[in-house]
Amino acid sequence: MDDRVDAFLAALDYPMFVVTAACPDTGEPAGCLVGFVTQCSIEPVRLLVCLSKANHTYRIACRARLLAVHSLGPEEADLAELFGTRSGDRVDKFARCAWRSGPDGVPLLDRCGYRLIGRVLERLELGDHDGFLLEPVHAQEAGPNRPLLMFSAVRDLPAGHPA
Ligand SMILES: Cc1cc2nc3c(=O)[nH]c(=O)nc-3n(C[C@H](O)[C@H](O)[C@H](O)COP(=O)(O)O)c2cc1C
Repeated sequence: MDDRVDAFLAALDYPMFVVTAACPDTGEPAGCLVGFVTQCSIEPVRLLVCLSKANHTYRIACRARLLAVHSLGPEEADLAELFGTRSGDRVDKFARCAWRSGPDGVPLLDRCGYRLIGRVLERLELGDHDGFLLEPVHAQEAGPNRPLLMFSAVRDLPAGHPA
């Protein structure tokens, strides 16, 4: 049964994102590579972003009012590596990429214009990840047929934190 579950999950593919947040007190930026992102309601529009409780980003996101969800394309594979294989517990990822502060200080990555800023409505206990239920408050329009960086292209990256 476990093997079949593993095989089922291994066959899935989905787009990758960098999710960022800022500490409301210090402005400290945080962000990590996330594959567990999905729209979970049509009306009202809602997004669910799942963050591992082990991550530095999780601890900051728990205190933040807003999260920024940056869609990645194949040309942003280097950002996927930076945000997916390094932890803010040990490395300042934001010293290694171009970004600016958005509303509430939420970090916006310069190279990822296709992004959505969401207000955290609720945090849901889901297992070793928590779900952050987002109400979109701002979205950048995406071009047509924009290529996406998929999980299958980055699945071999070693995660910066074990889940
Ligand atoms: C392919 C891939 C997918 C990942 N998906 C998620 C995810 O959905 N949620 C999550 O919290 N972390 C995910 N991670 C792990 C974090 O991006 C990684 O542990 C990161 O280094 C944590 O950084 P932080 O400690 O600065 O938050 C993924 C990593 C990789 C390589």
